[in-house]
Amino acid sequence: MLLKQDINQVTAFAPATSANLGVGFDIMGLALDAVGDKVTLTKRTDGQIVIEKINSITGLPLEANKNTASYAVTKMCEDLNIQCGFSMQIDKGIAMGSGMGGSAASAVAAVVALNGFLSTPVSKEKLVEYALYGEEIASGGKHADNVAPCIFGGITLIRSTNPMEVINLPYPELYCVIVHPHLQVETKSARGILSPSVEMKQFVHQSAELAATICALYTKDIELLRRSMQDLIIEPQRAKLVTGYYDVKSAALDAGAITATLSGSGPSILAFATNKKQANIVRDAMMKAFAEHNVESDTWISPINPNGAYII
Ligand code: HSE
Repeated sequence: MLLKQDINQVTAFAPATSANLGVGFDIMGLALDAVGDKVTLTKRTDGQIVIEKINSITGLPLEANKNTASYAVTKMCEDLNIQCGFSMQIDKGIAMGSGMGGSAASAVAAVVALNGFLSTPVSKEKLVEYALYGEEIASGGKHADNVAPCIFGGITLIRSTNPMEVINLPYPELYCVIVHPHLQVETKSARGILSPSVEMKQFVHQSAELAATICALYTKDIELLRRSMQDLIIEPQRAKLVTGYYDVKSAALDAGAITATLSGSGPSILAFATNKKQANIVRDAMMKAFAEHNVESDTWISPINPNGAYII
């Protein structure tokens, strides 16, 4: 694969994301406007992929085959036969284990930066595939519901990961309220507690809610969205991982949220509001409910971000 001769360094930004959206475990997600990760790649000549620095967070692996960003770059270089090697600097804007797609954002920023070196850049679908290698070592599963919205922006539905097929869904004007309690949930363990089977009755009900949610997004029907964004399968199994989960969810709904659900595997909770004023009310109610359980939290209010990761 040919690299542009005149480029020595590329930095890319990748936004935080919220996965599952209640009804679409492992297949739906959205991009947020609030925060994100940055990765800078600098060309080397020795063929090595080296993480030089990770800013803002401690405890992330520096070994190239253990870190989501460097592992994704390693796989992309192998696949495209890129031999020069790269030094990396990772600037983390997303807290670890927050349920806001931190591992996906680092991997995405890294592959988007690498794409910036290529004379003929690869497609977004291909970038999802490369970034997924990183996601796999972080969470133990090749789910693209953070990586896809992180690259494509908006709300995405992943119809298939092999071959990769991502569908951008339309959506009404919505404000996302993300409340991040100061708790950590590791995606790997939050996946580990899930039952491997689903009852037929639940499957039928959940399929109906997923289909209705997609209809509501296409028709911009807020009341249908309110009725249908229900998670009957995953939420009951994971709620115990988040102190006060059902109280915070009730507080959000009582304050007028369209829906409130785990953001990815948690512990963050995603709520939807139709306008900024309502989003503020919902946010305050959720923070108060966490505080009543002696849990501090950070919050973001963000429209859905129509743009995915980009080169700075
Ligand atoms: N779909 C994944 C899960 C998202 O819920 O395990 C993790 O961010």
